Amino acid sequence: MVVFKVVTQNTKPFDGQKPGTSGLRKKVTVFQQEHYLHNFVQATFNALPSDKVKGSTIVVSGDGRYWSKDAVQIIIKIAAANGVKKVWVGQDGLLSTPAVSCIIRDRVGPDGEKAYGAFILTASHNPGGPHEDFGIKYNAENGGPALEGLTDKIYSNTKTISAYLTTEGLPDVDISSIGTTTFEGPDGAFEVDVFSATEDNVKLMKTIFDFEAIKELLANPKFSFCYDALHGVAGVYAKQIFVEELGAKESSLLNCTPLEDFGGGHPDPNLTYAKELVHTMGLGKVPPANEPPEFGAAADGDADRNMILGKRFFVTPSDSVAIIAANAVGSIPYFSTGLKGVARSMPTSAALDVVANKLELKFFEVPTGWKFFGNLMDAGLCSVCGEESFGTGSDHIREKDGIWAVLAWLSILAYRNKDVGDGKLVTVEDIVTQHWGIYGRHYYTRYDYENVDADAAKKLMAYLVELQSTLPEVNKLIKETRPDVEEVVEADEFEYKDPVDHSVSSHQGIRFLFKDGSRLVFRLSGTGSVGATIRLYIEQYEADSSKTGKASQDALAPLVAIALKLSKMEEFTGRSEPTVIT
Ligand code: G1P
Ligand code: ZN
Repeated sequence: MVVFKVVTQNTKPFDGQKPGTSGLRKKVTVFQQEHYLHNFVQATFNALPSDKVKGSTIVVSGDGRYWSKDAVQIIIKIAAANGVKKVWVGQDGLLSTPAVSCIIRDRVGPDGEKAYGAFILTASHNPGGPHEDFGIKYNAENGGPALEGLTDKIYSNTKTISAYLTTEGLPDVDISSIGTTTFEGPDGAFEVDVFSATEDNVKLMKTIFDFEAIKELLANPKFSFCYDALHGVAGVYAKQIFVEELGAKESSLLNCTPLEDFGGGHPDPNLTYAKELVHTMGLGKVPPANEPPEFGAAADGDADRNMILGKRFFVTPSDSVAIIAANAVGSIPYFSTGLKGVARSMPTSAALDVVANKLELKFFEVPTGWKFFGNLMDAGLCSVCGEESFGTGSDHIREKDGIWAVLAWLSILAYRNKDVGDGKLVTVEDIVTQHWGIYGRHYYTRYDYENVDADAAKKLMAYLVELQSTLPEVNKLIKETRPDVEEVVEADEFEYKDPVDHSVSSHQGIRFLFKDGSRLVFRLSGTGSVGATIRLYIEQYEADSSKTGKASQDALAPLVAIALKLSKMEEFTGRSEPTVIT
C-alpha cells in the first residue's frame, strides 16, 4: 500500500478570496497560480471545527469545467493532510450541484459513514476553458451552501494564511473508474471512493415523482420532448433519467456530452445563450425546419438551473415556481400531503405570492442566493422555492435542482393529460395561460449590465439608496417620464431577518414598489468575476385576466423607461443598452 506523509507548505495570502453569492469564482489563470486554490481549501478547513474534519468523509467533484481534474487532485491531498479519512468523488470528477447536495444528505458509505461537507468545483453558468472561469464552493452538512458566518470565516482566514498542509508520497488518484483506492497516512487508512455520478440522484428522484406517469406521457405520440444540457454536467443525468429510466428518445437530447469548455458556449439556460434549444422550440428569429416539440428545457453548467419552454412559448422562471407550487399537490407524489410553505428571492416576481395567498400557504421573501432557503427548509417551513434567475427547487435537497424542475413540469403535464385519450393535449402554454386567468400575470424582465466599471456601479447604487429615501422626488421623476404609470408607494433597501436563526442580511438591493403591485429592483451581482454587474428587475402586475395576453416588451415598456430614468443608468455607466436581457 502507498504510504504518504503530511507536510507543511509555507504560503502568503492572496487578495480577494471572498466567496460571493455562490462560492469563489475567478479566471482559471488566477486559480492556476501556485498555492491559490490550496490557500482557499486550507482556509476552509481552518474555518471548520477540527474534531469534525478529523476522520470525516468529504465530497469533491463538480461540473467538469476546465482545470477541474487538477483541482480534484489538489484537494484530495490537502484533505488527506488535514485528517479527512475518505474523499468521495463522482466518476471523472463529475457531480452536479444538486447531486452533491443529495449525496451529502442521503448517501451512506459501506462503513455507515456520511459526508460532512463538499467542495463543489463549478462557476455554475459562467463559461469555462483556459481563459474563462473556474470556481469552488463549500457545502455544509445539511447539503446546502455554506452560510455567511462560515464564508466570512473562510475569507478572513485567507487574509492571514501563512501555511497549508499537503502530502508527500500520495500520487494522483485515478478518478475515471469506479472503485475505492486505499492509502496509508500518519493517522491510518485514507480512502478515495469513486462512484457513479447518477446513482444517488436517480434513487431520490424515484421517491419524489411518479416515473410511470411521466413514462406514459413521454410515450404519447402527441407529446414530444427536447433537453439541452449546454455541454454541462446535466447531460450525464439527462441520459440516465430521461432516456434510460423514462424512455425518452436519445435524439431528444441536445449537447448532453459534458465538455471542459462547454463547447465554447455560455452554459446559462436563458433565451440568449440556449440558442439551439430556442431555435428548436420555435422561439428564434428563423423558424425551425421541423415542427417544434411540445416541451423543451435546458440546464446550466452545474445543472442547478433550468429553463422551461413550451412550443413557441417561454415560461418565466418566476411563473414556473408559482405554477409548480399551485399544481404540486396532485401531480407530484412527494407533495401529496400538502406544501409546508413557499419562498422566493426578493427580485423574483410576486407570482408566487399570489398563489401562496390564495392557497393560504406560508410565504417567505429572502435575499438572492439559495443559502437563505436552506434555513427555512431545515425548520420545516418551506417545500417549494425559486429564483427569477432560472433556479427552482424543493426541500428534497438544499440546492436548486435543474433536473427536478423538468421532472416537476413533466409531472404536471402528465397529470393534466392523464385522461387525454384521443383529445387535444394540454400544453405548456395552456397550463400557463390558465394560471394567469386564475392568479393574474406578472410581466417580467431582467436587464443585466455586465462588466461595468466597479466604481461607476457603486456610485449608481449609492445614488439609488439616496433617491429611494425621498418618495416625492421619485414620483416627480416618474410623472415626468411616464405620466400614465401609477405612483411608487414604498421604496427601501431590502433587509432580511432570518426567521429561524434571526441573522440579519442588509443591503440586499433597492426596491421601488408601485401602487398596482408592480416593482422595480436594482442590485449588484455577487457572482461576477470581473468588474461589476448591475441587475435591473422589472415587473408589471396585471390582475385583469382579459389583459394577460400582451407581448411582454409592450407591457413593460413604461416601467423600463422609468427604471432607466430613475437610475441615470446611461449617465453612470456609459451603457445605452444592457448586455443581456432575460
Ligand atoms: C446569481 C443569481 C442568483 C443565484 C446566483 C447563483 O447571483 O442572480 O439568483 O442564486 O446567481 O446561481 P448574482 O450574480 O445576481 O449575485
Ligand atoms: Zn449553476
